[in-house]
Amino acid sequence: MNDNLHQLRCFGCGARISGAEAQPDFRCVQCGDLFEVEYPGWGERGGHDRPNPGALRWLWRDRRCSSDALDHSGVWRFRELLPILENFDNAVTLFEGNTPLYQLKRAAKALGIEQLFAKHQGMNPTGSFKDTGMTAAMSVAKERGFEWVACASTGNTSAAMAAYAARAGLKCLVLIPEGKIAWGKLSQAMDYGAVTCQLKADFDGCLRLLTQIVKEEPIYLLNSVNPYRLEGQKTPAFEIAEAFDWSVPDHLIVPGGNLGNSSALGKGFREMHELGLVTRMPKISVIQAAGANPLVRSFKEHQAAALEPVEAHTRATAIRIGNPASWRKAARAIQESGGWCLDVTEAEIAIAKAELGAEGLGCEPASAVTLAGLKKLCVDGKIASSETVVLVLTGHTLKDADYTIDFHRGTLLSEEETAGQETKIAGLRRDAVAVEATSAAVLAALKGRVG
Ligand code: F0G
Repeated sequence: MNDNLHQLRCFGCGARISGAEAQPDFRCVQCGDLFEVEYPGWGERGGHDRPNPGALRWLWRDRRCSSDALDHSGVWRFRELLPILENFDNAVTLFEGNTPLYQLKRAAKALGIEQLFAKHQGMNPTGSFKDTGMTAAMSVAKERGFEWVACASTGNTSAAMAAYAARAGLKCLVLIPEGKIAWGKLSQAMDYGAVTCQLKADFDGCLRLLTQIVKEEPIYLLNSVNPYRLEGQKTPAFEIAEAFDWSVPDHLIVPGGNLGNSSALGKGFREMHELGLVTRMPKISVIQAAGANPLVRSFKEHQAAALEPVEAHTRATAIRIGNPASWRKAARAIQESGGWCLDVTEAEIAIAKAELGAEGLGCEPASAVTLAGLKKLCVDGKIASSETVVLVLTGHTLKDADYTIDFHRGTLLSEEETAGQETKIAGLRRDAVAVEATSAAVLAALKGRVG
């Protein structure tokens, strides 16, 4: 059985190559840009390889009751839209995807929006959205016979890669910026058996170095420059459309770091639209931290035609990236869908994260930029109250417990950062209190009267 219907197309010059011809750094030899997976057979209407929307909707729903292991994966359940393997039996899965879509009633009320949801990608096996991409690209690595895989990471990619490599029986190398990733993520890479190198460099420096290394040794690069990662990461778009009974939400809000995720979700919605599974795309907006906002600047200063790297600083370490690899793809997703690109401050991120927490939905700081960004879009009048909005929460709250504890203890932000937001922050903080081990003391604490 040949499940492989894909080729690679250069995003810059349009050159087409087969998957096997890709360079180790996944850059085009002609123009240096990145590749996208494309499926030539989909173009011909009525053609043999063009998927039939009605049949797919039925098949994908049917698979929810199937006992086949592959059907339990929220990525491979949609495998007709990612035919990237010679044989789907080579798929390496931890039963990723099928993540919950939660309604956010309190935040919606506060913002005057009727329909607000959070697609929680932190509810994946290793606690972040990276699992959906990793199952796809790791399967390709295994099928092509690689022994070693590697990534540079702000933490989540390395956690996901290490887990999937362990499942596949492959060895893996992780390059991370020393002291700049959350402990939860580092602990995962260690536990799943990665060779973890902490470098005196930022994420961008780690990726630059790794790009060099993979040209010297037969190591398969698993950063999101690898186009197969994005094939997996596009599948939450299918889940969202399915959850809305194939009428897409008006607006999707995504955090932006290396910009693979926004690119992938854009591709997912675009392909569904082209195949007739949905009738339009949602507006896709990308939110960055103000201290790590190269794409925001690119839109402001160059209409997204050029990007100047910045030195990145933010406590949302997952998106502490100054030179995002997939910026052109993300810019296209924003532009073609009519979305926006904006940034939010450290205090806005911390407040939004605490508000999501208070609604029972913990997430990473990097995920909370979505709610912070939504608030700005509402203030700017860019979202109508009747519109349906989906926030993509990318990581689990336990990934970075230090951030949460620091916020609630009041040690996270500087005075300068909190200026003007003190009351808001005070209302959200829930510090743990030391209480005597007596019922009277506990009950007193319950009434807000400690001691
Ligand atoms: N949210 C979280 C929790 C992340 O870990 C990342 C990226 C992003 C958002 C941004 O996604 O890069 O596709 O724009 N983390 C990468 C990593 C860079 O190495 O784990 P992006």
